[in-house]
Amino acid sequence: MIRILLASRNVGKLKEFKSLLPEVELLTLPSDVDEIPETGTFFEENARQKLIAAQVWFMKQPTLSVDGILSDDSGLCVDALWGAPGVLTAQFGPGLSAYERNIKLLTLIATGASRSARYVCVLAWWQPSQSIKIFSGVAEGILADKPRGQNGFGYDPIFQPCTLEKTFGEMKDIEKNRLSHRGLATLALRQYLGIL
Ligand code: IMP
Repeated sequence: MIRILLASRNVGKLKEFKSLLPEVELLTLPSDVDEIPETGTFFEENARQKLIAAQVWFMKQPTLSVDGILSDDSGLCVDALWGAPGVLTAQFGPGLSAYERNIKLLTLIATGASRSARYVCVLAWWQPSQSIKIFSGVAEGILADKPRGQNGFGYDPIFQPCTLEKTFGEMKDIEKNRLSHRGLATLALRQYLGIL
């Protein structure tokens, strides 16, 4: 079984990676490892920062063996907000519940403005003796008028992918994974690893 160290402690992402990579044993960073910095302007920069921080931690674990390290930087880019919150999505609405963040984001969009938005996911992958590889996925959609559905995490109740009537929050995991930014980026990683 392939063993991967996931450079994330985001519970929503971990749940998705478990179903996107069912044949992989996923390890996560222990809770006493410092929060990984995210100071980049681009998703790829942040994904590389997270990957390198996890590599540094891994190098100090002489008894731990993994086949590779994976990081994910993702976010929601809203056209009416010039692409915000984008790379800063994780910092949007500090102290608020997920529901409150969804409402806050919706209230920033002026009446009549475009509701188009996209989820972006950039994965950085490292395995011994190889350079870092980058895989990305984008899900285009629109923002719903109000949150709908209890599934997924984060902004899923307000994100409705193009051509469908349901938000990600109203979809089963398997439906979201087929369309989502993370699902598409992971598909490219799976192709690269030969585990399609
Ligand atoms: P980061 O990748 O740690 O910077 O966090 C990205 C943030 O974007 C998450 O904390 C969520 O708020 C949001 N996000 C990214 N992907 C998804 C998704 O698939 N569903 C809902 N929210 C997401």
